[in-house]
Amino acid sequence: MAQILIFQGPPGAGKGTQARVAANELGIPHISTGDILREAVRKNTGLGLAAKAKMAKGELVPDNVMCGIVEERLGRPDCREGAILDGFPRTIAQAQFLDGILERTGLGEPLVLQINVDTESVIKRLTGRRTCPACGEIYNVYLNPPREDGVCDKDGVKLVQREDDNEEAIRIRLRAYEEDTFPLIDYYRRKKALHQVDGGGAPEVIAERLLGLVKAHDHL
Ligand code: AP5
Repeated sequence: MAQILIFQGPPGAGKGTQARVAANELGIPHISTGDILREAVRKNTGLGLAAKAKMAKGELVPDNVMCGIVEERLGRPDCREGAILDGFPRTIAQAQFLDGILERTGLGEPLVLQINVDTESVIKRLTGRRTCPACGEIYNVYLNPPREDGVCDKDGVKLVQREDDNEEAIRIRLRAYEEDTFPLIDYYRRKKALHQVDGGGAPEVIAERLLGLVKAHDHL
């Protein structure tokens, strides 16, 4: 059965780390709206130019822009068997728009996995994050360092720090999460689509928790 999985949680909860693993395991695409925007910024496209300043500050990009991106992406053939959404929806308006897409395309009710991590851990995860600009692999200088300092284990490319992983932008991102995204927990709880997942512990342990929930849901 086609299934849309939504990985939800505060900045730094591990949504991207886990979505990469789950997409690989389940054979469905990983759609990260943050990655799509960062790619557009790198390529200086119209979307990138429109989103760049907001992203650097840690503010949300407007709903109409984000909804258009996701509608186009979910309409591609590789999403017929399902997909993992990472970073979308982030507002009630985005969630309502997604409901409309899922109804029109017959993709059905989403399964929402809310990854919970305390604020202190989130700040450590974000300030220590480094990513590979070539393959997208995610590291952490404190918690999950590469074998060689500053270099990707997979392809030897120099790791980079995200522009919005600084103290000021992290503060604004956490506030945007509290104000705009946190209400989605209730939204999806009312739809009986929400599953809470403890995001503490080693990434492999969290992956098992998440995949366990997805597989259990498949057999309902
Ligand atoms: P986005 O890219 O979605 O950023 P985010 O939500 O702030 O989430 P992050 O990517 O920072 O964290 P994550 O949960 O994926 O954590 P990760 O796995 O990397 O969005 C960026 C910006 O784009 C937004 O601010 C906004 O401007 C815009 N945007 C995007 N979507 C939008 C939308 N729908 N609407 C409006 N605007 C939108 O892990 C973090 C670190 O922790 C890594 O170093 C990792 O190695 C480490 N780590 C992960 N798991 C563990 C673990 N279990 N133990 C120890 N370390 C761990």
